[in-house]
Amino acid sequence: MAESHKDKVIIVGCGPGLKSYISPKALYNIKKARILVGSRRLLKLFPGVDAEKVVLEKNYGVLVQKIAEWSRSKQVVVLVSGDPCFFSYTRMIVRKMGRERCTIIPGISSMQLAFAAAGESWDDACFISLHGRNDKYEQLVKKVREYNKVGILTDHKNTPAVIARHLIKQGIQKRQMFICKNLSLPEESIHETDLASATNMNTSGSAVVIIKNTNHEIR
Ligand SMILES: C[S@@+](CC[C@H](N)C(=O)[O-])C[C@H]1O[C@@H](n2cnc3c(N)ncnc32)[C@H](O)[C@@H]1O
Repeated sequence: MAESHKDKVIIVGCGPGLKSYISPKALYNIKKARILVGSRRLLKLFPGVDAEKVVLEKNYGVLVQKIAEWSRSKQVVVLVSGDPCFFSYTRMIVRKMGRERCTIIPGISSMQLAFAAAGESWDDACFISLHGRNDKYEQLVKKVREYNKVGILTDHKNTPAVIARHLIKQGIQKRQMFICKNLSLPEESIHETDLASATNMNTSGSAVVIIKNTNHEIR
């Protein structure tokens, strides 16, 4: 099962948080790292990996350039939360290095886990990220009007309460809301509510929100 990654970066999806959600294939590839890049939280998951550890902070641009250079001579492995192809800086690495120099190992996305926790299929859903994006509310309203289910990545500013208030202000009323916090972690919570009740909800930590139109007929 030896795989050649000469000149290639390996981008590994580390799932939503709990280590047992990381696939054996991902773990196998992480062990090959000579340079391991990731957030502090992700790097802490692999204390036994004998590699130089590089912490990813807000230095994406510079780091992507360095990853491209380092990977010419050393095996670089980049750790990404959830799935690499779902709202992550993987696209910056692929754009910089080219698809042929990137090996991507999928991971379980926080979005997948949220839909599983809510007991909802996600094949008919639409997605948006408000993580670090305050300018996406117009798009959000459009998607919520158009789709039966919308999965939303949130952050400390664009919280479930802020989202609920915005949708109500835009005249959207009857929607079910699932607030899925800290998925897979000991402090996990799944809250099923409606927009009006969510407006005053205090949330902290990572959260995925699912907005569902309960009036929608099953076709
Ligand atoms: C930069 S995005 C990364 C998404 C990631 N690529 C994925 O597939 O889950 C970060 C956002 O993912 C969501 N997230 C990540 N881990 C989570 C968790 N354990 N529980 C709830 N939401 C999570 C939060 O909305 C967080 O702000």
